[in-house]
Amino acid sequence: MTTNLSFPITLKHILSSLATLVLITLYFITRTGFSPSSSSIQPPDNNTLRISNSSTVQSQESAKCSKIPPSLADALIHYASSNVTPQQTHSEISVTKKVLVKKSPCNFLVFGLGHDSFMWSTLNYGGRTIFLEENESWIRQIAEKFPSLESYHVQYNTKVRDAAALMAVAKEREECRSVSTDLRVSACELALKGLPEVVYETEWDLIMVDAPTGFHEEAPGRMTALYTAGMIARRRKDGGETTDVFVHDVDRKVEDEFSMAFLCRDYMTEQEGRLRHFTVPSHRNYGISGGKLCP
Ligand SMILES: *[C@@H]1O[C@H](CO)[C@@H](O)[C@H](O)[C@H]1NC(C)=O
Ligand SMILES: *[C@@H]1O[C@H](CO)[C@@H](O)[C@H](O)[C@H]1NC(C)=O
Ligand SMILES: *[C@@H]1O[C@H](CO)[C@@H](O)[C@H](O)[C@H]1NC(C)=O
Repeated sequence: MTTNLSFPITLKHILSSLATLVLITLYFITRTGFSPSSSSIQPPDNNTLRISNSSTVQSQESAKCSKIPPSLADALIHYASSNVTPQQTHSEISVTKKVLVKKSPCNFLVFGLGHDSFMWSTLNYGGRTIFLEENESWIRQIAEKFPSLESYHVQYNTKVRDAAALMAVAKEREECRSVSTDLRVSACELALKGLPEVVYETEWDLIMVDAPTGFHEEAPGRMTALYTAGMIARRRKDGGETTDVFVHDVDRKVEDEFSMAFLCRDYMTEQEGRLRHFTVPSHRNYGISGGKLCP
């Protein structure tokens, strides 16, 4: 450069240097998303903006290679744009999600069909999730909205007001404690015998009991669903496996008493809000509890 610069030119030079500095600073601020805590900024000629160590960068890069499955995308968009939220709270849902993260893809049996159904089947991505529902017009309504869900109509012939009598009979009857009897021919009043074949023929990893209706005396109540869920778990053939059973609305008498009696207090692993989680072992091969339902 020239050595005999006059004062105004020097000032101009300084000003243009300052402008360049401001531009470079602005560049970095926008690159880091205005985050004041990002300190490990790489020079602009390096395209990798390093915010963590190399293993993180690597996993971000490999995630780029696979597309999000269409059904997952649909679920995200559905829940992001829906003003109807699932019946369970965030912390209640998290209990089941924790188990699904470990076990899915798996077999997941759900008593009840509702706004959370698409979420359950999506969380069990690649597995089989089926829903049992008492209200036929509700099934049609949901099937229209979510055609990919597998749901079945189920009839219950009990009433909440009969719960105490059913409990008394079940405690006396030998038939209600028999794990070797096929549920379809069980003489126990609490066994659901008319369910779709797939329910009896599948080894279920998870069972959610969030139906049928049970909030008034004339409603069917969950007595038979809770008993049947417990027996399906005990009858599991793939020895050594446990079944995770989740019961919602345990603040109610029927859900509280029947879950403790037939899924067993000793098999309860967690309660969060109105949701209980039981881990029920198979009673098939081990002579577990010597003919008793609970330890
Ligand atoms: C970019 O930065 C990373 C991490 O510091 C380094 O491993 C890589 O070699 C750099 N790439 C270039 C092109 O400078
Ligand atoms: C860097 O990666 C290792 C695993 O390679 C991990 O254990 C560690 O927590 C990571 N550090 C940060 C800051 O993410
Ligand atoms: C069944 O579902 C419909 C909605 O499809 C609802 O209007 C009706 O009240 C429900 N019936 C019962 C008995 O809950």
